[in-house]
Amino acid sequence: MSESEIVYLNGKYLPKEKSSLSILDRGFLFGDGVYELIPIYNKKIFYINDHLSRLRNSLDQINISPKLIDETNIEEIINHVIDKNNFINHYIYIHISRGVDENRNHIYTTECVPTILVMGENYKPFSLDIIKSGKKAITEEDYRWLRSNIKSTSLLANVLLKNKAAKDHAYESLLIRDGYLTEGSASNVFIIKDSVIKTPRLSNKLLPGITRKFLTHLIESNELPFDECDITDKELLDADEIFCSSSTNPVVPIIQVNDKKICDEAGPMSMKLYNCAQDFIKENYS
Ligand code: PDD
Repeated sequence: MSESEIVYLNGKYLPKEKSSLSILDRGFLFGDGVYELIPIYNKKIFYINDHLSRLRNSLDQINISPKLIDETNIEEIINHVIDKNNFINHYIYIHISRGVDENRNHIYTTECVPTILVMGENYKPFSLDIIKSGKKAITEEDYRWLRSNIKSTSLLANVLLKNKAAKDHAYESLLIRDGYLTEGSASNVFIIKDSVIKTPRLSNKLLPGITRKFLTHLIESNELPFDECDITDKELLDADEIFCSSSTNPVVPIIQVNDKKICDEAGPMSMKLYNCAQDFIKENYS
C-alpha cells in the first residue's frame, strides 16, 4: 500500500492507511451496502453514466435514497481521487453502506447516514498472450440469493464460488441455476454457437454488467448476430466459444469447462470482440 494514496471517506480526503470505520458500520456487520468498480482509462471514467445509474438502482433496491449520488456529487469525488493520486489507467471502487447504527440490529433505523468510500484499485488486466491462450472454467450450482441484479457488498457466495474456481486452477465458476446459465461468480458470460453470440437475458438472477452493455453496443455496431436468451448447461458445454466479461477484463476467452475442451485457443469471435473493445477504448479514452 502506497503511503501517499488518497481515498475519499465520508466527506474527507485522507491517506489510505489513516482511513478507518466504526465497528458498528452496517457494511462491516451485515454486508449492508452496495458498490461499483469502474475502469479509468487515461484518467477518464469509463461509461460513467451507466455505472452511476446502476449504483442509483442498487441503492434504490436496498431502500437508500438514490439522490445521495447527486447530492454528494460522486462524479466530482471520483475525479478528485483520480487527480490527487494521478491515476492514469486504474480502477475506482465506490462503496456505500447504510452507515453506522447505535447497536447491532438487523432492523435499521432511519437516522443512519450512509458511509461513502471512494478509492483506487490497481488490478492488472490479462496480457494479450494470456487472452489468446484462454482460460479454464468450472460449472457450479448458483446457490446465491435471488436478487443478484443488485451490486451488493454481501459477496460471501461469490467469494466462495470464485475461490472454488481458483482452487481448481480455473479463472471462473460459471453458475447454473435450475439447469440454466446465469453468470460467472464475478463476470457475465457469453457463448458463441454457429456464429451467433448469446448471453443470458437480464433478470433478478444476474448482474446487469456494464461491460456486458458495452459489448452489446459493439456487437450491434458491428452488426453481428446476437441473442439475449436462456442458455442451458448443455448448450454452454456445446458452445463453439465462451468468454467472460467484467470491468477488470472486458473479454476473457474460456477454452475448457470442467473436463470438456471447448477450443484449443481463444476463438475468432472472442478475439474480434476483444480487439473491438481495445480499439474503442483507445479511440474514445485517449
Ligand atoms: N465484478 N457479475 C458479477 C457477479 C460481477 O461481480 C461482475 C463484476 C460482473 C460484471 O460487471 P461489470 O461488467 O459491470 O464489471 C458480473 C467486479 C469486477 C467486482 O466485483 O470487482
